[in-house]
Amino acid sequence: MSLPSDNAASMRRYAQHAATYDRSAARTMPLRLRTIASLGLQPGDVVLDVGAGTGLSFAPLQQAVGARGQVLAFEQSPEMFALADARARDAGWRNLWQVCAPAETVRLPKAPDALLFNYVHDITRSAEALNNLLGQARPGARVAMAGMKFFPWWTGPLNLLAWLKNRPYNVHAAELWQPWDRVQARCGHFEWCSTQCGMGYIAHGRLRDDGRALHQGGAA
Ligand SMILES: C[S@@+](CC[C@H](N)C(=O)[O-])C[C@H]1O[C@@H](n2cnc3c(N)ncnc32)[C@H](O)[C@@H]1O
Repeated sequence: MSLPSDNAASMRRYAQHAATYDRSAARTMPLRLRTIASLGLQPGDVVLDVGAGTGLSFAPLQQAVGARGQVLAFEQSPEMFALADARARDAGWRNLWQVCAPAETVRLPKAPDALLFNYVHDITRSAEALNNLLGQARPGARVAMAGMKFFPWWTGPLNLLAWLKNRPYNVHAAELWQPWDRVQARCGHFEWCSTQCGMGYIAHGRLRDDGRALHQGGAA
């Protein structure tokens, strides 16, 4: 598979972090559940877990969409995907479809009603990835996002801390002022709020019809 250099760098990082990922993500579980709740999932919905990592969101997503719904997921790091795959096999989920593939090119088997972007900063900063994913969503699909952001500018050096925390995981670690803005630009209704004393955010919204179409604004 030939990948853009950003993806190759991200894959090297997650190859190193896969084994310890679940432990490091445990403390943000309440935030994950809050972000998933903001999708307003209903039984029968199709939800896409974008850059699903080790599959930590699978259980709450499965619970929300029920047996009639479906969870779709993709992840580009083979090491993270192997852990997600093992999780799914252990749980025996029948309505989960997942594939090891990059956001820029993944093909989904059906159009999602809702998309979860949980701590996938590099994907939300890539116009190519957003074009591909949002272009396959249902008109008016719901989106929810969570991740890190910079503190307000007047806190000065504190942002060095945010950058240092983000850098081991994300290629675009410097783009933390409004990390949601490329998704927001595709949405009609969109709300965000600060979390973790200003170091994080959660957001949710609904795609505009023309938000699904190819969007040329912004570099990948
Ligand atoms: C911080 S982890 C979050 C994983 C998961 N969303 C969660 O909530 O636990 C970011 C994940 O995004 C994946 N990722 C980054 N860029 C990607 C891309 N372009 N395509 C697919 N996956 C990507 C990484 O491999 C990593 O597993």
